[in-house]
Amino acid sequence: MPKKPTIVIVDDDPVGLNTVISILGDIYNCVPIPSGIVALKFFEKHTADLVILDYNMPQMNGIEVLRALQENEKTDHIPVIFVTGVDDEDGEVSALREGASDYVLKPIRPTVLVTRVKNQLELYVHRMELQKLVDEKTADLNRVNEILTRREESTLNLLARITDMRDEDTGNHIMRTTEYTRVIVEAIYTNPRQGYFLNREQADSIVKCAKLHDLGKIAIPDKVLLKPGKLTPEEFEVIKKHPIYGEKFFADFIQATEDDPFLETAREITYSHHEKWSGAGYPLGLKGDAIPLSGRIVALADVYDALTSERPYKKAFTHEVAKDIITEDSGKHFDPYIVELFLANEQKFIEISKMRSSH
Ligand SMILES: [Fe+2]
Repeated sequence: MPKKPTIVIVDDDPVGLNTVISILGDIYNCVPIPSGIVALKFFEKHTADLVILDYNMPQMNGIEVLRALQENEKTDHIPVIFVTGVDDEDGEVSALREGASDYVLKPIRPTVLVTRVKNQLELYVHRMELQKLVDEKTADLNRVNEILTRREESTLNLLARITDMRDEDTGNHIMRTTEYTRVIVEAIYTNPRQGYFLNREQADSIVKCAKLHDLGKIAIPDKVLLKPGKLTPEEFEVIKKHPIYGEKFFADFIQATEDDPFLETAREITYSHHEKWSGAGYPLGLKGDAIPLSGRIVALADVYDALTSERPYKKAFTHEVAKDIITEDSGKHFDPYIVELFLANEQKFIEISKMRSSH
């Protein structure tokens, strides 16, 4: 036998309570309650499948009790049937407007009350089943989403690692460049101004894609990329092609898939991170804000990390030296506003630059 549904009946008038109980008492588990305040106390510890509320009650009338039930997430889903006087048209209307499920008129006709209660309980069960289904599906979706997000993260990291290992394995370079990029991106996101605006998705995409900026180096021959000594001008020309190669990887993807802002950001960063504000960069010689904002941000992050890291041909510069070089290059290599943001957040850069594995 399934459990009998519990119905809370709230009425200040004992006669009214008894009438309802005499009609429903055999079918349901009825809980008579003499006032709205006591009803709310009851719901602090218990629950019910349905509430029958008298409209006219002293202290707290039916509408006030209904509102209180709706404001509490433990009770907001419980259907409420109002009991109103015949001459109380306002009561009926406002009860329904406030979200009551149904109402019955006094004097109560037993068959009407039984039918309405039955209907509301059935609806309630359906609604709960539907809600359960929605909750389950939402949980499934969230799980899948989490898995995909983690997988995306791993794939991006893997690609970045492959690029990095072929080049200069400088330990945590990817991670630091990502974090420097994040500092600038968040500064723009939280304090946008004309020409410097990122929505949440764009901001997240730039941070995620920053680590892929050198992906095109995969296509550079080992004898050039890994050459220990100084590069000849011809060899340097070969290196300078890596943004073009990177761009091509993503451009091919973008054509094959639907418009994807994430891939578009990756494409922008790969082709534009060696452009210079003055127009003297490569591969396209873009100038000023013709260079995508993402590329201008990653350019500074990448150079700052190169300056403050040890390389086979140089020692690591201190933050102060790197800062002087970058400040000197403001408006030449770098977007002046990005340099401003760098200076405003230099403590964060110093902290990030300390993240180094010991090898
Ligand atoms: Fe690069």
